[in-house]
Amino acid sequence: MQYAIMVEDLVKTYNGFEALRGVNLSVKRGIIYGLLGPNGAGKSTLISIIVGVSKPSRGKAVVLGGSPLDPRVRSRIGYQPQEHGLHPNLTGWENLYFYAGIYGVDKKEARARIEELASCLGVLEHLDKPVRTYSGGLRQRLSIVAALLHDPELIVLDEPTTGLDPSVRQRVWDLIRGLRGRGKTVLLATHYIEEAEKLGDEVSIIDNGKIIASGSPEELKSRYGPPAVIEIILDEKGSVDKLAHALAGQGIKASATGHDKLRIHCKDPDALVPEITGIAYRLGLSIRVLRVVKPSLEDVFLKLTGRRFGENES
Ligand SMILES: Nc1ncnc2c1ncn2[C@@H]1O[C@H](COP(=O)(O)OP(=O)(O)OP(=O)(O)O)[C@@H](O)[C@H]1O
Ligand SMILES: [Mg+2]
Repeated sequence: MQYAIMVEDLVKTYNGFEALRGVNLSVKRGIIYGLLGPNGAGKSTLISIIVGVSKPSRGKAVVLGGSPLDPRVRSRIGYQPQEHGLHPNLTGWENLYFYAGIYGVDKKEARARIEELASCLGVLEHLDKPVRTYSGGLRQRLSIVAALLHDPELIVLDEPTTGLDPSVRQRVWDLIRGLRGRGKTVLLATHYIEEAEKLGDEVSIIDNGKIIASGSPEELKSRYGPPAVIEIILDEKGSVDKLAHALAGQGIKASATGHDKLRIHCKDPDALVPEITGIAYRLGLSIRVLRVVKPSLEDVFLKLTGRRFGENES
């Protein structure tokens, strides 16, 4: 079975309101799959069906080759809900042992897993304290540890890094990449563009209950994003025409902006930059500034919806 998740024509209605409006999704095994969407897009609703917490109004989900409602399938999924299910009056240890018990992990193995995962995310030293004393970020991290205790095949994380400091976010990212390195599949819902772009092998953009585009971040940007822009500022004023002329001779169209600046619109700046610098060098021109502005998934979202990501959020 090549796919960890296959979802077909999912519809979820809450009192007549369609939170999901016909979602199709295929997630290959062993990859990090990003589900990127603004607030209210339907990420958590979709995830809740994939992990078997709620049922679709229409359509079907096949997860790890079976139904997510089957307990044998569910035991192979690790799920970090957006609203974590931690008991405030229990300590970190007690909460984690509770989950280990649910998943059938024996105490000795649980202790070793907890120590490894909690130290990886920097929560080990807090585990003796009741969860009500934890900051939001600490609860978030504890909830990720809980999702991983039984070494699941498929890990589903609902906005795992919301509210985390950049350094802690990096630790979570490293952990997620490590999971992929061990052959696990990770489905990651996020409203951070950077997170989807950096972590996702494949990404689906979800908006208003519909998936509006899917592919690797690079594919999405080259399909829907604007061209990249290479901006060059030369040291000697008045030499831009010389460079623009030489570039034109190589089929590279550059437009001068001001007396010392050139802009080049292109699809593949990484290949073009060495060519341009080589031409400038041969002409004896020295480049003071070379800046490459690449499109991001933000541009893709804007192109597809006409809105900026995060605009009109509830
Ligand atoms: N139990 C519910 N009853 C009624 N409406 C709901 C319920 N759960 C979600 N919704 C609505 O369905 C839509 C999708 O919500 P969902 O929580 O899936 O979005 P999300 O992408 O996870 O958003 P966020 O980034 O805020 O977590 C929203 O309009 C939300 O208000
Ligand atoms: Mg959500």
